[in-house]
Amino acid sequence: MFLKRLDVVGFKSFAEKISIDFVPGVTAVVGPNGSGKSNVTDAVRWVLGEQSAKSLRGAKMEDIIFSGSDTRKALNFAEVSLTLDNETNSLPIDFHEVSVTRRVYRSGESEFFINNQGCRLKDIIDLFHGFRSWERSVFHHQPRESGRNP
Ligand SMILES: Nc1ncnc2c1ncn2[C@@H]1O[C@H](COP(=O)(O)OP(=O)(O)OP(=O)(O)O)[C@@H](O)[C@H]1O
Ligand SMILES: [Mg+2]
Repeated sequence: MFLKRLDVVGFKSFAEKISIDFVPGVTAVVGPNGSGKSNVTDAVRWVLGEQSAKSLRGAKMEDIIFSGSDTRKALNFAEVSLTLDNETNSLPIDFHEVSVTRRVYRSGESEFFINNQGCRLKDIIDLFHGFRSWERSVFHHQPRESGRNP
């Protein structure tokens, strides 16, 4: 199963919409300290169903919504979509490409979509059920202290 694309808007430091295409050969995200590398992996874990604000390095879920900067107002919602290749039917759904989307508003309201169809958080969690240990090993590592990454 391959990650194809990550679309992020309003999530943590990503005020503007960004898209990352995981074309073959992409194996790492690099950038200076504080540039948003961990926010990318937080976005992947969040869209896959993470429910612990603490594990996303916040105190409450609202903390993942872009909170403003010197030049930009805070946003009212965060949205992340992850598109995966499902040619090999690794995911138990009859589509060759699967996108999952999660959106949260400051009001606390949440929305979830699988291939643009509204669904429950549980449906997303169930979809990736067989991949929980994979997800944990890839995205739950504790990064080394800032500035000491090799
Ligand atoms: N809700 C938010 N709104 C705006 N900015 C945010 C929000 N949450 C986090 N940030 C910003 O994200 C930045 C940290 O990003 P991140 O932890 O992904 O960096 P990093 O590239 O992993 O850094 P390091 O190399 O130190 O691990 C900080 O500047 C922080 O202010
Ligand atoms: Mg980091």
